[in-house]
Amino acid sequence: MASAAVSSLDPKAFVYDPFAPDVMRDPFPYYKILRDRYPIYRIEKYDAWAISRYEDILKLLTDPHAHLTTTEGTLISPALFRRSNAGKVPPPRLDPMDIFPNLPSPYYEQVRQSAIGPLRPHAVAQLEPFIRERVRERLAELIGRGRFNATVDFGGYVSSGTACQLIGLPLAQAPLLLELVNRSTTRDPEYGGPSDAFEETSRRLMQMLAELVRSRRKASADGSNRMVDGLINLEIAGRHLTDEEIAWHLMVIAVGATETLPKVVAAGLLELWRHRDQRAQVLADLETNVPIAFEEMLRYGAPAQWFSRTVVDHPYTIRGHTLMPGHRVIILFASANRDERMFENADRFIWNRAMDGHLAFGYGMHFCVGVHVARLEGRIMVEELLRAIPDYEIDEANARRVISDFQLGWMQVPLIVR
Ligand code: HEM
Repeated sequence: MASAAVSSLDPKAFVYDPFAPDVMRDPFPYYKILRDRYPIYRIEKYDAWAISRYEDILKLLTDPHAHLTTTEGTLISPALFRRSNAGKVPPPRLDPMDIFPNLPSPYYEQVRQSAIGPLRPHAVAQLEPFIRERVRERLAELIGRGRFNATVDFGGYVSSGTACQLIGLPLAQAPLLLELVNRSTTRDPEYGGPSDAFEETSRRLMQMLAELVRSRRKASADGSNRMVDGLINLEIAGRHLTDEEIAWHLMVIAVGATETLPKVVAAGLLELWRHRDQRAQVLADLETNVPIAFEEMLRYGAPAQWFSRTVVDHPYTIRGHTLMPGHRVIILFASANRDERMFENADRFIWNRAMDGHLAFGYGMHFCVGVHVARLEGRIMVEELLRAIPDYEIDEANARRVISDFQLGWMQVPLIVR
């Protein structure tokens, strides 16, 4: 194995490497220097550029002259980063088919559209009673315990249940789904990239989802499970998808639905505890204020550091730097959300700050498919928790961050019931 990546905050010898242990522990000091001094930062050994300012990210993701592809993946591993494309982007993988975020048009759109019926606004709105009841029941149980981990025991419990509901898995499988997703997304704390748990946990997730696909085929995929049946009935590139291919597409949605939101909610609860004046203001009118506070929780505590793209076909020049075909682009969404050029006092949590939007859900073509679920579920979780335990405490000394080249936030936020 290669030696661990190196980073340095020394202004005279600044080095940013997303896989360096120091960056994985806390990337924000690096983001600040990147934004201020090296907004378009070349990482030669990965054939990549890191883009850190809000304005540049928006430009790159919307400019028709920027030709970007995701066929190498949107979350490239360190091993792949170390292999240069030497100017040529590898062809997409169509058989067996890659996960849908990595597909080129029109396949990408075809798979995405056939899967996302339950994620559209009208369908999501109908989930509200299910989510609210599950949140209330869980809170009643957790309050009885006196102390719980806001990320896993509360947020993870709720979001894994919603994921089951969306995909059509039995609710009884939610605890296993949560455990497998949380283990499969842990990263190697020294080298970055997937940890040793990845293979075994993704194999088990695959089994769980492929089993569901088989059961839907037996039921003739009659449309009563919109997501899975939509994928079974899809004809694409002159054929139907196999069980395994469908299970991989479902896995992307299952992971997105399960691991992201709990970190936002837990980080938000931590900030409201740190700023009791702000908590009191939110508490004054929960229904009006929680949706506003939740947007700041997303900006401040969004759970992904970056997603990547690869330049294809034509060079693209931005701020005097030319990105060549084959170069990877690391889009630092988390840095953009702390860009002082866009947000005053960007590193401060201010529940009702005036803002013109944020990039917590990405931007453009790959904008998060789960945005409506995330907003509904997040608001319900925060609102119900504040209603049930308005004066909660947090044992900050025992809170634990994730160490990751990709995720951000807190895996453990011990919340104490008062
Ligand atoms: C607070 C919660 C969430 C946050 C902050 C979040 C964030 C993001 C971001 C930043 C992207 C863009 C990736 C890119 O540009 O390559 C994305 C994409 C995606 N998200 Fe979410 N997400 C959240 C919740 C969810 C939920 C609840 C689901 C599923 C129900 C989900 C499923 C997905 C999927 C499948 C994609 C890939 C979309 C594509 O490539 O077309 N996410 N998410």
